[in-house]
This record gives sequence, structure tokens and C-alpha cells, in this order.
Amino acid sequence: MPSFKALRVHSLDKTTTAKFETLTVDDLSSGNVVVRVVWSDINYKDALAVTGKGRILKGYPKVPGIDLAGVVESSADARYAPGDRVLVTGCNIGEALDGGYAEKARVPASILVPLPEGLSLRESMVLGTAGFTAAMALRRMLENHQAPEMGPIAVTGPTGGVGSVAIELFKRAGFTVHAITGKAGAADAYLKSLGADEVVSRQSLNLGTRPLESALWGGAVDNLGGETLAWLTRTTRPWGNIASIGLAQSHELNTTVMPFILRGVSVLGIHSVECPRRWREEIWRHLATDLKPASFERLVAREVSLDQVPAACEDLIAGTVTGRTLVRVSDE
Ligand SMILES: NC(=O)c1ccc[n+]([C@@H]2O[C@H](COP(=O)([O-])OP(=O)(O)OC[C@H]3O[C@@H](n4cnc5c(N)ncnc54)[C@H](OP(=O)(O)O)[C@@H]3O)[C@@H](O)[C@H]2O)c1
Repeated sequence: MPSFKALRVHSLDKTTTAKFETLTVDDLSSGNVVVRVVWSDINYKDALAVTGKGRILKGYPKVPGIDLAGVVESSADARYAPGDRVLVTGCNIGEALDGGYAEKARVPASILVPLPEGLSLRESMVLGTAGFTAAMALRRMLENHQAPEMGPIAVTGPTGGVGSVAIELFKRAGFTVHAITGKAGAADAYLKSLGADEVVSRQSLNLGTRPLESALWGGAVDNLGGETLAWLTRTTRPWGNIASIGLAQSHELNTTVMPFILRGVSVLGIHSVECPRRWREEIWRHLATDLKPASFERLVAREVSLDQVPAACEDLIAGTVTGRTLVRVSDE
């Protein structure tokens, strides 16, 4: 059986180690479609899994990488044939199932998405889980009647993957966008190039302590959780929506019911990993057409090889990366 290169995380005495190994398809978690992986990417969760800074992986050894795009090599499912171009984001790959940091992946056909017309394999991984999640936030907020005239959308963690794509998408949908970043000054040009109308320094915020503070935001896309999300609940205008996506600052949320019962503010949960397949295909169709970013290159911080993934994950955890990190796994 042909062998291939993979990055796998092992666990021994509660310590995890990521190593490059030579595997065969039979070493991978079960599935009925084998894909030659061409591109993957690095999300916050991947960085936690590879560096061992977070318990993301369920069972060891495991190939991390929650996203992949590539070409079907063999399929026992009638919906897919060799040569088909496909992608997977989330759906437990790189967590409970082996993921994208290997030259081959074996996955259940039920989680594959045919590459939508209008996107290249590379573009699909510039977006990856980050883009898919930002698009899901836009969808949920629009469904809950978010409208541009309600006021600016605050995007926190805006230089990260989700935040960067969120700025593009909300701007495209007609909203005014304020980027609230820990890298104000250094990242102003980048954030404005994506469409941010204003860049606000997170360090300069006066978070206040009252259950309701001056209402500033029409709505918000929050990647941080913790005191930042609590502050957003206190400062969102009547009927505004806050898409709660991440926990880069903290998983905690200490607030009161006042924003909900006196301003009608909603916190919308965003769970990209296991969203219904119907939504998944629809969101990817939008990302390939009306929500397709104007410039993919603007979003790409850098492109790394599989060998460079461990070091690139350290950089992501250190919070020094601006934009998306693409992983070139094999040649197209
Ligand atoms: N719910 C879902 O389905 C879903 C899907 C994807 C991601 N997520 C979560 O969403 C968050 C963002 O993901 P991502 O892939 O965009 O991550 P990322 O690329 O690493 O970006 C995170 C951004 O958050 C800010 N940040 C990082 N560490 C921070 C800290 N300690 N305190 C305050 N701000 C900090 C930084 O932005 P600035 O320097 O610009 O402030 C950083 O660029 C993560 O928590 C991730 O787990 C959730």
C-alpha cells in the first residue's frame, strides 16, 4: 500500500507531541472516500491541537487539521468519483477524526462538500472554517433582522482568520464595520484594506461596570468571549445581534439580563463544526458567488509547507499573525 507523509499528535503521560510520520491509508480513521490533500490552513483550534496548548484532539494518535481541500483518489460512495474536487471544514476532522495535515485523508462521504463552482481549491482554504464561520454569523444575524441602519458592526479579534473575513463580508453586505483590535496602529492599514471603516484599540476601551452602558453598536461579531463579550452585551443598541464565535480571551461570560430584557439584544450562538448539511452547502454556494471576497490575496498572511506547520502554529498562539495561514500539502 502506498505511503505518505503526515503530521500526527501523540499523547504520553498527559503531554502531547506532534511528529512527522510515514503512514498508509489504513492508519487513518475510517471513511469511504480517500482524498489527496492539496491545501489545508491553520485555524486557532489547529494551533491549540498542534502545540498542545488546548485539548482539542479526541483520542491519540491523531492527524490535526480541521480543514482540507483536495482531489478524490478513490470512493466507495456513488456520489463521488476519482478526480472530483472536494473540501471539508469542521465536521470533527482534526478532532475526533484524522484531519488535513497529511498528504492523504480518508473521510466519510457524508461530510464532503463538492468544491463549489467559482472557487479554486486554494481559495476554498483561504476561507476555510474561518470564512465559513464568518458567513454563518452574517446569515444568522440577517435572519434575526440585523440591518445597516441599526448602526456599526463591531468585530473583535479582527486581524485573525474569522475576524478578517467577517470585515469583508459585513462590508460587502452594506454594513459599517468597526474593527476592535489588540494591534491598533500596526494593523490599521490591513484592517482598512479589508473594509473596516474605523479601527479601535482594544486596550483603549473603557469597559465600564454598569449593566447597561452607552449603546454604541448596531451588532457585533465576537471572537474573544470573556470581558469583551460582556462589554458588547452592555453596549449594543436595541434589537442588535451579537454573534458569539470564539474564546480567544476567555470562555467565561459574566453579564446581566438587562441588555436582553431592556434593549432586546440577542446573543446568537455560532457552531460551525456540526451545522446541518443543508446550511453547509448553501453557505459555501454564497461564498463562491455573492459573498466571494474581492481579493483573496489580501486575506492571506502567508503560505507554509506541511513541514512548517508546527512553527506556524506557535506564531498563531503568540497572536502575532495577521490574516489567514494557508498550508500547501501537495501540488495541484
Ligand atoms: N464557533 C465556531 O464555530 C468557531 C469557528 C472558528 C473559530 N472559532 C473561534 O473563534 C476564535 C477566532 O478564531 P480564528 O481562527 O480567527 O483565530 P486567530 O486567527 O488566531 O485570531 C484570533 C484573534 O483574536 C485576537 N486575540 C488572540 N489572542 C487574544 C487574547 N489572548 N486576548 C484578546 N484577543 C486575542 C487577535 O486579534 P487582534 O490582535 O486583532 O485583537 C487574534 O488575531 C477562536 O477562539 C476560535 O476557537 C469558533
